[in-house]
Amino acid sequence: MCGIVGYIGTQKAAPILLDGLKKLEYRGYDSAGVAVQTSDGVIDIRKEMGRLRILAEKLDGGQVLEGRCGIGHTRWATHGKPDSLNAHPHTNAEQSIVAVHNGIIENYSELKKNLAARGYEFYSETDTEVAIKLVDYYYRGHKDPIKALSEFALRVRGSFALAVLFRDYPDEIYAVRKDSPMIVGIAGGESYLASDVPAILSYTRSVYYVDNLQLCRLGKGTVEFFNLDGERVEKSPVEITWDMKAAEKGGYEHFMLKEMHEQPAVIRDTVNSALQDDNSVDLSETGISEEELKKVRRIIAVGCGSAYHVGVAAQYVIEELAHVPVRVELASEYRYRTPLFQEGDLVIVISQSGETADSLAALRLAKNHGAKTFAVVNVVGSAIAREADFVFYTKAGPEISVATTKAYSAQLAAVYLIALKLAAVRGTVSAERNAELASALRSLPQKVQMLLDEKEEIKRFAFEAMNKKDVFFIGRGIDYAVSIEGSLKLKEISYVHSEAYAAGELKHGTISLIEDGTLVVGLLTQSGVIEKTVSNMEETRTRGAVLAAFTAENNRKLPAGSDWTFRIPETDELFAASLAVVPLQLFAYYLSVLRGNDVDNPRHLAKSVTVE
Ligand code: AGP
Ligand code: GLU
Repeated sequence: MCGIVGYIGTQKAAPILLDGLKKLEYRGYDSAGVAVQTSDGVIDIRKEMGRLRILAEKLDGGQVLEGRCGIGHTRWATHGKPDSLNAHPHTNAEQSIVAVHNGIIENYSELKKNLAARGYEFYSETDTEVAIKLVDYYYRGHKDPIKALSEFALRVRGSFALAVLFRDYPDEIYAVRKDSPMIVGIAGGESYLASDVPAILSYTRSVYYVDNLQLCRLGKGTVEFFNLDGERVEKSPVEITWDMKAAEKGGYEHFMLKEMHEQPAVIRDTVNSALQDDNSVDLSETGISEEELKKVRRIIAVGCGSAYHVGVAAQYVIEELAHVPVRVELASEYRYRTPLFQEGDLVIVISQSGETADSLAALRLAKNHGAKTFAVVNVVGSAIAREADFVFYTKAGPEISVATTKAYSAQLAAVYLIALKLAAVRGTVSAERNAELASALRSLPQKVQMLLDEKEEIKRFAFEAMNKKDVFFIGRGIDYAVSIEGSLKLKEISYVHSEAYAAGELKHGTISLIEDGTLVVGLLTQSGVIEKTVSNMEETRTRGAVLAAFTAENNRKLPAGSDWTFRIPETDELFAASLAVVPLQLFAYYLSVLRGNDVDNPRHLAKSVTVE
């Protein structure tokens, strides 16, 4: 969510801060600001509501500010409406402590009351201002930034990545974090701080991940890390292997379109990272051993949004192939239950960003109960990846568009591989069947490409469906798993109301919403249940619905008088989600474009949801 950038070195800070924030724009934000400090300690704060461009224009690209040390922020409002007053940076009364913050201070109202009783006044509605005044309160006692930030970290509840300037220390930037990411990069005599890699990747590839409840002090070209006791901590940098090109549009109109087109490569890379020439699956890179896999008696797949939808698909595939019971859980629900754990539980946490607050909390809950945790994560070095016992890295590369496409596809590929491996260690699949499945996996990229090549057809469909107010996606089994993803995609970027239903469930209430012209999209790739879904589609048709069928190439059972029929290449039915999702992604994309929406940055959404 939102973004933090910090810089200290020999150049003017503001242009570098603005440049870094620009690279984080994709994450979603509503206002932006910078604070720059000159070496005599004067801190200048500038902030604006709206796009970063507005701030950059006011500051002449940052040139109007002289300081060589500064922090910048793009805010995604959680406490206090999005406006220029609530925008970050925030400050204490004397403007001698200035900070930017990502996350939420949960006990901010209690802290605010205590601070107000001690004479503090507040100018904004944010939890962040309270945080800074709390730092100010601790700092007054001893004038030691590390100590003040440690005391702060111990006192607040919630999540924070805080970057702070102290007037008394004009050539330094301080930072502390908990459950909200922060990285540091050093290049020559310059130091960079950021909430995510793209912000600083053009300056350095070697980054330090600040750990939870760790602090750091940046000087010109130097960084020191501390624990909450103020003791120095030694850390080694991690090398980032992808380059900025991967995070550029490369001739496509939108990141989403580019990322959809990367799916064949992403699926191929993910499959090839574990599938061997002899059709066996090697998961040793994840850290899990065959012995540990043999002990698995139950899987709990946890995630949010599309990652949760991958879990839903995984349930069918893993149960069918490996005969291990799978439970799928929304991380935001799971974390607040008292789940029952048992011997042999493996909790698979699925996340593109590896920073989603609820998924991270679910992971910790499982760990605290002694369950083994296995992360399927895209971002290397992210919190979920670091904290899980085992990590399968999907090979999607940086995903910029808020609506996930290629990361979802890579996650599906990952769970297929996990299913195959589990099946192998448990002996539930014959060598012959395993070879069939391996070959189906290898041919997925080419079939995804075929679907992408047919995009004009989907574009026409989107054009005809452009004015629909309600769309229902229905399917059974894996077709249901695809339906929920197709429906979410449509909602999030086209803003068209849509629902996904297990096809048989429709007549238990929802069918009353069907009116003349309502669009019902049926997914028909699972041969055992196609006829059932066809009947359900027909039931809606008799009540006025118009029908679109997305169906396997060879299926001849279609609802009478379908208005649109789209063919999906044949594959092993267990992997059909990887193909069926592609036209649904394209449909959402074209509808969003036709309706003039901001495809890559849909309203109200953020790429990585680091707050609950
Ligand atoms: C999907 O298009 C969404 N933007 C969203 O549902 C996303 O999948 C969810 O927020 C989970 O994110 P994560 O994979 O980074 O944990
Ligand atoms: N909770 C803070 C606010 O609303 C920070 C939000 C963010 O992470 O951008 O200002």
